[in-house]
This record gives sequence, C-alpha cells and structure tokens, in this order.
Amino acid sequence: MELEDIQSIILRDRPTPYFGTVVAIKINNAEVGRQILANVLPDVTGSKEWHKDTQATLSIVMTYEGLQALGVPQSSLDSFPDSFKAGMANRANKLRDADVNAPENWVAPFGDKGDIHVCATVIADTKEKWQAKFDELKSNMKPYIDYDTPENGNIEILLEHDFGSDNNVKNVFGYRDGISNPEIKGSGIQTPPSNMDEAIAAGEFVLGYEGEAGTVPPMPQPEVLGKNGSFMVLRAYNSHVAAFNKFLKDNSDSDEEAELLGAKMWGRWRSGAPLVLSPDHDDEDLGDDPSRNNDFGYKDDPYGKKCPFGAHARRMNPRDSKDFILSDVRIHRIVRRSVGFGEVLPADVTEEDGKERGLFFIGINAHAMETVEYLQSQWINDGNFMSLGEEKDPMIGLHHGDKDSAADTFTVPTDPIRKRYHGIETFNTLYGGEYLFIPSLSALKWISELS
Ligand code: HEM
Repeated sequence: MELEDIQSIILRDRPTPYFGTVVAIKINNAEVGRQILANVLPDVTGSKEWHKDTQATLSIVMTYEGLQALGVPQSSLDSFPDSFKAGMANRANKLRDADVNAPENWVAPFGDKGDIHVCATVIADTKEKWQAKFDELKSNMKPYIDYDTPENGNIEILLEHDFGSDNNVKNVFGYRDGISNPEIKGSGIQTPPSNMDEAIAAGEFVLGYEGEAGTVPPMPQPEVLGKNGSFMVLRAYNSHVAAFNKFLKDNSDSDEEAELLGAKMWGRWRSGAPLVLSPDHDDEDLGDDPSRNNDFGYKDDPYGKKCPFGAHARRMNPRDSKDFILSDVRIHRIVRRSVGFGEVLPADVTEEDGKERGLFFIGINAHAMETVEYLQSQWINDGNFMSLGEEKDPMIGLHHGDKDSAADTFTVPTDPIRKRYHGIETFNTLYGGEYLFIPSLSALKWISELS
C-alpha cells in the first residue's frame, strides 16, 4: 500500500493520552480555500511517517459541499457515491435517525443547521505539541476570517471543539474504548492480536485497492482524487451517563450485580477485559494488556451466557458467532477513531450534573456511508440478525424507556433461564453528524492546485 499517500487517521491509532481539536470550516471563496489548503498541506501526515508518539498531526476531511466550494469540477463531483452526495441528514431514514436523534433536533452547524465544508483536526500526544500545531493552523486561517461579520469572511469557523482522554482511554461512561480495530492486509500495521480475525482486504478501507470480493470497487475520479482516499462517518453523541448509572442501580441488588449488568450491555468490563475471557469479574491486568484484551472469539460462548448476543461490542463485531445471519461479518468492519469529550461520571452518580460529555464517533471505511447505514439499521436498531426480535443495541440504539416495549428490552442469557431488563433509554443521543471524504495527500495537493 502507498502508506505515505494515505492520511494517517485512516491507518494509525491515536496516541494515549491524546489532546485534540476539530475545526469545522465553511469556505466562501474557493481560491482562498485552496490557498489555505496549500499552506497547511505540509502538516498533513501520511500513514508511513506518522506514529502516535511522534509529532502532532493534522487531518483534513471534506463534505460533498466542501468539494464543491473548493471548485472540484462537476465531472468529478458526479463520480462520488449518491449517499455521500446526499449527506447524513438526508439519509436519516436509512440510519434510523428518528425522534430525539432526528436531524430536526441536531444542533448547528451539523446537517441542515450549517454548511460544514471542511473539518480540520489536530491531534497529539502532549498538550504542547497539540497547542503549537493548532496555533499554526489558526494563523494560516486568521487573515481570511471576518471576526465581526463572519459571513463576510472568505472562510468561516463554524465549530471549534476540543477533545481528549486520560491515560486510561476510558470513555465518559468509564469504560475503556478504542481497543478493537480490523487489521488491514498489506498495510504492515499491526493491530492488537485477535485469535479469529484474519487481516481484511485493503480495498474495504482504502480506495483503489482490491476488496474482499477480489475486485477494485469504483472510486471518485480522476484517479489522483480517489486513490488512497477513504470515507468517514462522523456522529456526535451526547452521553447520558447518570441515566445509565441509574439504570444499572435500579436493576440490580448490589454494586457487583450493577457492574456485571453494565459489562453485559457493553460486552467488556470497565477495564476493557472482554466478558468471554473474564465472565464473572473485571480483570484489570487483562484489560490493560494489548496482547490479550482483543484476543478472543465467541464460538465457545454459543448461547451468549458469557457475553450476551445483544451486547454493544458483540453486535458490532459478532466475530465467529455461529448460527445467525452473519455470513458477511468481514465486509461490515470499520476502522474506529472516535474521540471523547467531557469528564467521566463515576458509577455512583445517578443525577445529571449539567456538564457536557459525549463522543464523536468516527468510523472509516472505503464505503463508510453504506456500512454505517447497514450497522445502524440492522445490527444497532434491530435484533433479528441475532434472533433477538425487536431488541436494539442497549448502548447506542434509539430507545424510549418503555417498560412494555420489546424494543426497549435487553436479554441476558443465564442459568437456569434468561433474564430480561426492560425500559432501556437512549443513553447516547445524536446531536449531529456528517459524511466526509478523506482525500489522499496527492488528492489534497491536486485540489489545492485547481483553478
Ligand atoms: C456514544 C457512542 C459510542 C460509544 C460510547 C461506544 C463505545 C464502545 C466501546 C466501549 C466499545 C468496546 C471497546 C472496543 O472494543 O474498542 C466499542 C466497540 C465497538 N463499537 Fe462502539 N461506541 C459508540 C458508538 C458506536 C457506533 C455508532 C458504532 C457503529 C456504527 C460503533 C461500533 C463499534 C465497533 C465496530 C466496536 C468494536 C467491536 C469489536 O471489534 O469487538 N460504536 N464501542
């Protein structure tokens, strides 16, 4: 693979700890937009040279409207997938983004509430490196911003959002995140070992390579624009941790039982230890150990007695689970580069403290829009593929807290009979999202040189 041309966010893990900022930009003047792109290009790193403990990196991704605003020719624009052209808000039906998650309830600048053209993200392993790189980005944009009347500027900053995590890479629920990612064939980049997970064809994640079907899927044209690029699905969630903590407490008789129920809902304990390897209690050493914490399959847990079929992680990657409608597990994998914001709320806090906390889910795949639409409609907001009827993902499904609804139920297989938990709420509500193209470094250069 041409690693030096592929943006590092596609193939490289973020550092631990990490510090970052995402800036959403609207471009009102194509020429200025291209000039800024040319100026910042040297800071955008490829997957060969960038490692998580080296220098800070900048990644640049754009919406369909962003490509238009930068003056990409119509013939090229036409060669992008229809889902990408439509944008996430217009695909709400396919994504099952209704009720609280519906685009009408999103906040600016997402979807129709704004005009996000480009997202620039700076990320680094220290505060100093992150600050220095972010200052550089800001000084490149500053001359073109009108601070009094933003819409009169050549560019507008629609959003500036900091994120980061502590050393434990715990998300705001207090659970270790970002452990499991697919290994990509030919990348030479190792992911934590997994005993059932063979490397997946590069074309599933990067444009211009053979996919699992053995063919190179169509890509945006000309080749310099499409090749070595990919697509990103960004979904911004507010996390209702106190409601989750309360749910655990209300449905258990002890702290231990509450912890077990939480682990059953995620598929992993707080430390990251997988339930199938440690079914009864958390195991910090296992959770901390990258050589062991992803090294498992589900075939020895055929009835879900260790990890329920409905657990978030088992739904999102059923691995070698048998006897379900799962023939296509390998083509529904995504690279996750999600980033969290806000403080972890301890398990004993059951009332909201009014502070913002949540996660920018970032999923990357050469056909990320279709993959996430499939995951959202089949594996998150439905239970049929695992013979769970109407049940949904207990952590990220769209729920209504209705104790009489099968869809708001979570089933935990146990001896002698299964246990059912009712009245699940939407513990993560969506407040925005975008479909984004991740151009290669040569595509960014090509765009910056358009006239
Ligand atoms: C607020 C939103 C979300 C949170 C807090 C969250 C959290 C987590 C956690 C804690 C894990 C287990 C750790 C790991 O294996 O890395 C996980 C795994 C995973 N999640 Fe999520 N997630 C969220 C949204 C999503 C969405 C929207 C998708 C897909 C559309 C998704 C897909 C996955 C996948 C593919 C895995 C890995 C499963 C595996 O390979 O075993 N997540 N998530």
